[in-house]
Amino acid sequence: MYEQLDQSIQQLMWDVRKRTLKRMQSAYDVAMKTSYKDLVTTVDKENERFIDDHLRKLDPNAKIVSEEGLGDKVTDLKGPVFIVDPIDGTMNFVMQHRNFAIMIAFFVDGQPVYGYIMDVIEGTLYHGGPGKGVYCNDQRLHAPADNDLHDSLVVLNSGITLNGGHNFREIGLQARGVRMYGSAGIEMIAVITGRVGGYLSYLHPWDLAAGMAMAKELGLSVKAIDEKELDVLSSNLVLVATQQVSRDISELIN
Ligand code: IPD
Ligand code: CA
Ligand code: CA
Ligand code: CA
Repeated sequence: MYEQLDQSIQQLMWDVRKRTLKRMQSAYDVAMKTSYKDLVTTVDKENERFIDDHLRKLDPNAKIVSEEGLGDKVTDLKGPVFIVDPIDGTMNFVMQHRNFAIMIAFFVDGQPVYGYIMDVIEGTLYHGGPGKGVYCNDQRLHAPADNDLHDSLVVLNSGITLNGGHNFREIGLQARGVRMYGSAGIEMIAVITGRVGGYLSYLHPWDLAAGMAMAKELGLSVKAIDEKELDVLSSNLVLVATQQVSRDISELIN
């Protein structure tokens, strides 16, 4: 079920990558959203328009949750729902011209079916979901080794770490090292490929949904750090990690 939709969304991801690379060759506007640390560009908006228009053709009955405002007002995850981040890591897009992603997730009745994360500059599409395997382009990924915190690098949200919240400092000190990439999509890729053992951040639905679909299939733990049930439609402090890192971090946080 949904194999045809999966193929169409994969093609859409490659098409959006191509448009984005082309768009980077000419000028675009950059605007502040809530502060100088929170940007949106015309490319975010153009990508969102392109993606949302295509998704509506692929499944006219599906609802769309989308970061920059073109989506629907979605209050529950009943039926088919697409969750879209047209550029994840806009700050990196503007300042570094790398380390940013495009993300789409497909959920049905609250359950993840497929996640897609495109590392635009690398040209790698991570895709898959529960029962389907997870792939980097055409290559199937193995489940990461169940390493503990002492044997793992971790990605920590920079703002929470700098502000001294949630014992992130102690988590970083106990890990082998801390990494901060500035794109939830790139950071999710780091966990699902086993390059880091855990990722702790405050995530909006479009930051979380695609990575969550793939992390679950790979046997990773995905949970709200207050241990309450994860609501994908809300913004949550989320831990995506190996099962052992998840236990180790829970002990340090709670
Ligand atoms: C942001 C990035 C960043 C994360 C923020 C996100 P955006 O996404 O993923 O790494 O720390 O929480 O909002 O706004 O660039 O799509
Ligand atoms: Ca944003
Ligand atoms: Ca975004
Ligand atoms: Ca994002």
